[in-house]
Amino acid sequence: MINKIEDTRKNFDDDLVKVTNLADLEELRIKYLSRGQGLVSNLFGSLKDVKKDDKPKVGQALNQLKIYTQAKYDELKEKFETEVNSSKQIIDLTLPGRKREIGSKHILIQTLNEITDIFKGWGFSVYEGPELESDYYNFEALNFAPDHPARDMQDTFFITEKFLLRTHTSPVQVRVMTENKPPIRALMPGKVFRNEAISAKSYCLFHQVEGLVIDTDITFAELKGTLVAFAKLFYGQEVPYRFRASFFPFTEPSAEMDVWWQPKGKPGRWLEILGCGMVDPNVLINVDIDPEKYTGYAFGMGIERTAMRKYGIDDIRILFDNDKRFLTQF
Ligand code: DAH
Repeated sequence: MINKIEDTRKNFDDDLVKVTNLADLEELRIKYLSRGQGLVSNLFGSLKDVKKDDKPKVGQALNQLKIYTQAKYDELKEKFETEVNSSKQIIDLTLPGRKREIGSKHILIQTLNEITDIFKGWGFSVYEGPELESDYYNFEALNFAPDHPARDMQDTFFITEKFLLRTHTSPVQVRVMTENKPPIRALMPGKVFRNEAISAKSYCLFHQVEGLVIDTDITFAELKGTLVAFAKLFYGQEVPYRFRASFFPFTEPSAEMDVWWQPKGKPGRWLEILGCGMVDPNVLINVDIDPEKYTGYAFGMGIERTAMRKYGIDDIRILFDNDKRFLTQF
């Protein structure tokens, strides 16, 4: 009986190598595995004639043969079936091509690019600084007194006592002045962070563009002229504007610029668009630029408010939601 089992396995193996398709495989199955007439199945029928003592050994060998032949059969069946399925895939050359989804620029980036393009046209170079800043660049070098309220934990995300997430893009001014000799004409866009309660009007993250010009004989008149020319290009030739006196630790004198905003169907009002001023001599001294020889101006504007006004958006949070229904409208 053991010999018979061995012979059956050998014959099975010989037949197996000749199988090349599903039809051959089906023949193999009928020959060995089918009930009633399969060679392996039939061997089980002969088990009753085996001597009682030999039964466990023969039974075991027979089981092994059954498992082996079934496994080989299953393996080949799966192989042939996947081959058939993939060869069935007919390519329809008349189908229209699939459209590729192309992303679009976020309206904040679009607005930022519009602003930088205007200043690039006037010879400004673009610089970027780190978002993780030191107290020195963010406050100290910019002439903030040690007890200035902006340093307060409520406004500033301190990482350690010395390092923080920058609260404005003005520290990049210090970096640019440290690394470059005048004349300097720089534009510095980037993200800034403030620890404020999140609402429709304010978010913990927003964008600013900083401007800096340092040269001999730079005057407040030049600052005004540049910003007015910018407002006319960006908001329209006829846009009403005004400058108001203000205070910043790093400029003297300082001002804020407003433009007149008239939303459709609503009463118009003045809207602050930027802070600006003549670079404070103390700041120039901090970066080793001689304030007797050089003067300069600086300005900083928020991007979110500018974009929100332009596109009629009344909740700042929607700019950071990454909601495709919103983003694909622009
Ligand atoms: N850094 C100021 C802020 O975040 C904005 C600003 C004001 C920037 C005056 C300037 C400037 O460069 O001269 O509120």
